Amino acid sequence: MPKAPEADAIVLFGGAGDLALRMLFPSLYFLDADGFLPDGFRIIAAARSALTPDAFREEVREAVIARAQPTAVDPDAWARFSARIDYRAVDATDPESLKAIVEALGDARAPIFYLALSPSLYIGVGRALAACGLATPASRIVLEKPIGRDLASSQRINDALAEAFTEEQVFRIDHYLGKETVQNLIALRFANTLFEPLWNNLTIDHVQITVAETEGVGERWPYYDEYGALRDMVQNHVLQLLCLVAMEPPSDMDADSLRNEKVKVLRSLRRFSRHEAVAASVRGQYAAGVAQGQAAEAYETERGAASETETFVALRVDIDNWRWAGVPFFLRTGKRLPERRTQIAIQFKGVPHSIFGGAADGDLIANRLVIDLQPDEDIELILMNKAPGISQRGMRLQSLPLSLSLLKAYSGPNARRRIAYERLLLDVIVGNSALFVRRDEVEEAWRWVDGIAEAWGEAAMAPKPYPAGSWGPAGAFALIERAGRAWSD
Ligand code: NDP
Ligand code: BG6
Repeated sequence: MPKAPEADAIVLFGGAGDLALRMLFPSLYFLDADGFLPDGFRIIAAARSALTPDAFREEVREAVIARAQPTAVDPDAWARFSARIDYRAVDATDPESLKAIVEALGDARAPIFYLALSPSLYIGVGRALAACGLATPASRIVLEKPIGRDLASSQRINDALAEAFTEEQVFRIDHYLGKETVQNLIALRFANTLFEPLWNNLTIDHVQITVAETEGVGERWPYYDEYGALRDMVQNHVLQLLCLVAMEPPSDMDADSLRNEKVKVLRSLRRFSRHEAVAASVRGQYAAGVAQGQAAEAYETERGAASETETFVALRVDIDNWRWAGVPFFLRTGKRLPERRTQIAIQFKGVPHSIFGGAADGDLIANRLVIDLQPDEDIELILMNKAPGISQRGMRLQSLPLSLSLLKAYSGPNARRRIAYERLLLDVIVGNSALFVRRDEVEEAWRWVDGIAEAWGEAAMAPKPYPAGSWGPAGAFALIERAGRAWSD
C-alpha cells in the first residue's frame, strides 16, 4: 500500500470544547515546540459560537499555560504555534456552512478532520464533509469514542462514514492506546524473551485490570447517564487493555497485524447469559460519601433525579481460546473510588511444590507482575527471595519487587510526561493507524458489551449503591472471592 501523505492541516470540529482545550491544543503545542509539526501545518478550530480568531487564540493560550504547569510556555514556541491557529464559526453538519472551512483550508491538500463533537453528530458531519467536497482521498477523519451506544448505532455511524472515507482514512481514537505504559506493555511482552513462554494458562492463575477514578461524573451527567461505566469505559479503554494483555504475538507492528490479533481476542470473549450476568458481573452507583477527604454527593444528586445508570462495573471474563482457557480475567472500573489507579496485575501460579518447609512455607507467595499505568507509570515483578540474616528456624523467605520505574526514566530536568494525545495526533499526521481502533474491533467490542447490557436487562439487575470513596459494592469483592482470589489492593 502506498505511504499516506503527511497531513498539512487539521480542522478541529468542537475546537472550543473541553476535549480540544484541555487535551488537543496543548498536545499540538507540545508537538510543535518539539519540532514535530510539519512546516506550514495549519490548525483550524471550528464550532458554532461566534468568536474572533484572536479571542480564540487567547483561550488556547490559557489552556496551554494551564497544561504546561509547572513549566512556563516558551514565548517563541507560542508565537510560532499561535500563528498556525485560525477559528471559524460553523455548523459542522451543514455543507453550506462548511464552505468557510473550504476557504480557510486554502491550498491544504491533506487535511485531518477531527470530530471533537458529540457522537450524535458524526453521521451528519461525515455527510456534510462529503457534500462540500472536503472528503478527498488524501484527507483523514478522526473520531472520538464512544462510537455509537451499541452495535447497531455504531454500525450506522461506520456505514455512513464509509460512504465518504475508506477504512484507512478513518482514525478511531482510544486515548488509552496513546499512553506510554500501554505501549510499553507491547514492548514488555514482545521485546523480551522472558515473559512470552510464561504468558499462558500453564503459568498464569488470573489477570486483574483495574481502572479506578476518584472523580465523580459531575457536569458530564447528560452524556454519562445515557452510557454508564460499561459503555463509557469497558467497551473501549478496559477492553483495549485486555486485548493487549491477551493477544497473540502479531507478525509485526503494522496496523493490521496488531489489530488482527486484538480482534481475535474480542471474538474469543465468552458471552454472558442472563444467569452468568448475575453471577459474573456487578453494577454499582455511587451514593454520598467521602472522597479524598471531602464530602461527595451521590450520583443521583449530581444528576438531579433517580437513575439506573451504573458508575461502577466489575466483571469476571473468560477468554475461550487455547492460551487462556481456565484463566479468569477480573475487570473493574468506576468513578468516586478511593484512589486514581489504572493497573494490570498478572498473577502467576504458585510453585508446584515447596522445598522449604516450616515457617518459610508460609512466607511463600506466588509471583505477580504489576503494571501501573496511572497515576505513576511503573512495572513491578514480585519475586521471592531469601530474607537476609540467619535464624535458628532455618531459611525465611520474603517477597521483593523488581521495579522498572518509569518515574525515574522521566525525572530529568527537562523530562515531561507526554499527553497520550500527542502520540496519537502525530500518528494521524503521518498516517500510521496502528494505535487506532479498526471498525471490526469497535463492532466486536460492542457485540460483547451489548450481550452484557441485555443480560442485565433480562435479569433486571439495577446498580447497587456504594459510598463515594469506597471500592464499589460488596458484590465486587464477593465476585472475585467466589473464584478463590482477591483484588490486589
Ligand atoms: P464539549 O461539549 O465540551 O464540546 C463540544 C464542542 O462541540 C463545543 O465546542 C461546541 O461548541 C461544539 N459543537 C457542538 N455542536 C456543533 C456543531 N453542530 N458544529 C460545530 N461545533 C459544534 O464536549 P467534549 O469536548 O467533552 O467532548 C467531545 C467529544 O470527545 C465527545 O465525543 C466526547 O465523548 C469525547 N471525549 C471527551 C473527553 C473529554 O475529556 N472531554 C474524553 C474522551 C472522549 P458550540 O456550542 O460553540 O458549537
Ligand atoms: C474517557 C471517559 O474516555 O476516559 C471518562 O469518557 C473517563 O469518563 C476518562 O474519566 C478517563 O481517562 P484518563 O486518561 O483520565 O484515565
